[in-house]
Amino acid sequence: MKKILQIDSSPRGSRSHTRRLSEQFVKLWLDKHSGAEVVHRDLGKQLPTPVSENWIAAAFAPAEEQTTQFNNQLHESDTLLDELINTDALVIGIPMYNFGVPATFKAWIDQIVRIGRSFSFEPKDKQQPYKPLLKDRPGFIIIASGEAGYEPGGAFFAMNQIEPYLRTVFPFIGINNLHFIYCGNDEFGGERLEQSLNMARQQIQQLATST
Ligand SMILES: Cc1cc2nc3c(=O)[nH]c(=O)nc-3n(C[C@H](O)[C@H](O)[C@H](O)COP(=O)(O)O)c2cc1C
Repeated sequence: MKKILQIDSSPRGSRSHTRRLSEQFVKLWLDKHSGAEVVHRDLGKQLPTPVSENWIAAAFAPAEEQTTQFNNQLHESDTLLDELINTDALVIGIPMYNFGVPATFKAWIDQIVRIGRSFSFEPKDKQQPYKPLLKDRPGFIIIASGEAGYEPGGAFFAMNQIEPYLRTVFPFIGINNLHFIYCGNDEFGGERLEQSLNMARQQIQQLATST
């Protein structure tokens, strides 16, 4: 049975464009993959714990030094990692905040990029000491913004700190098959916003029904 992980990171509820677009994606994807399961991780409503000194000590402790206390520190990270590892596709809604990802989403990234679980470090391999440990799977990333033109080739792509960041961090753990969907113009509203939403919806229709 196929499983899709839907991640929302906007703190907004029904006013959030990324939430509505990720919902549209999931509905279409379920129509295509009958019997598939959706796991919903709502970072906008439940912020993952920021990494602490104890978390770092636990995550980097060698296997023979692991203790129950360390395991407890990593419980949340293990839950989020298991959720990610056991899915066949990802759909992620990200509001652009100050040109980058919101703190909600960054906290999730810091919990799931973990030595020994999603990447390995082999210092003897001088060519490629860091190795991804996750299997590849499609990731559909929906980005909403107040302005427009942050997509590759757009007037403001140089200011976009989301797509270049995610094209670095996801392949670092093994997820390379990434698709980006943009919806701009939230600040302008009206026809400009409607046009952006329509373009995003069309892209979602095409991607969700062909993957
Ligand atoms: C704290 C904050 C920072 C924002 N920073 C940017 C920004 O850097 N560039 C931009 O175009 N829009 C920015 N916006 C506008 C949001 O990206 C826009 O409202 C988007 O639709 C939010 O996603 P959502 O509709 O899923 O909540 C910002 C909004 C907030 C609340």
